[in-house]
Amino acid sequence: MQLVCAFNFSTLEEMVGLVEGARAKNSPVILMASLGAVKYYNNSLELIANTAKGLAMAYPDVPICLHLDHATDLEQIKQAVVCGFTNVMIDASKESFEENIRRSKEIADFAHNHSPYGINGCSVEAELGMLAGHEDEVHVEESGKAYTDPSLVHEFVERTGVDALAVSIGTAHGYYKAAPKIRFDLLEAIRKETDVALVLHGGTGVPEEDFRKCVAMGMSKINVGTGLKKIFTDGVKSAIKPEENDPRKVVGPGRQAVAAAIEANCDLFNCTGKTPYVLKSIY
Ligand code: G3H
Ligand code: ZN
Repeated sequence: MQLVCAFNFSTLEEMVGLVEGARAKNSPVILMASLGAVKYYNNSLELIANTAKGLAMAYPDVPICLHLDHATDLEQIKQAVVCGFTNVMIDASKESFEENIRRSKEIADFAHNHSPYGINGCSVEAELGMLAGHEDEVHVEESGKAYTDPSLVHEFVERTGVDALAVSIGTAHGYYKAAPKIRFDLLEAIRKETDVALVLHGGTGVPEEDFRKCVAMGMSKINVGTGLKKIFTDGVKSAIKPEENDPRKVVGPGRQAVAAAIEANCDLFNCTGKTPYVLKSIY
């Protein structure tokens, strides 16, 4: 199983930058809609899905996966599946083990059978354990953090039928106050328990050598969000001048900054020129 990077976007302009960056490196890309982005566009999953479809048509050489990130509302997730998202995350990590299984299985059963792309046209990510930190609509205090228990992984994956598992091994959402201490021992134990794709959340600020080690140990998807928001906004700020009235000259540098950051990420993860594992792409 190979690696693919996944990036959050807050605006449609960033989506374009993400695809442009991936295209420059001949890499697939997972576009992750945070719940905040969905809210920002008046909860229109159709708007986001159709933008991603448009990008897939405009850039047919780039495998594009559209992911709904950290979703908790089962009806909203089902709507995303029907709209054409190719990967959905059911985040029931705050629930009990049994309730997490119940909700994750309900979504896996639905998504595998109701995608407009056919049977198994939409894959499902669930989370076991809980990351600390704050990112968009996700808020967990340090005291609420829970590492993924490897002894529960096999049962969880078997009973839910999910395709990917987000694990809590020491990363956190948002900016780190101190360098994260990744529990590679847990990752090793988890990897032995299941063959499904493992997902590392909280990618912003993780040292490069830790990323490399996670990938070498079998992590298949790496999520990066918070840092990209700043990269986009800094790019826009750099272009703001009192006399500038062309929005493209203000927003465009933000999109270019995002594209450049994605290129750098593709280099870091050695995605360049490869076709790594993609959960499901829009065809
Ligand atoms: O689901 C999104 C990711 O976990 C992003 O984490 O904002 O800390 O980079 P981050
Ligand atoms: Zn996350």
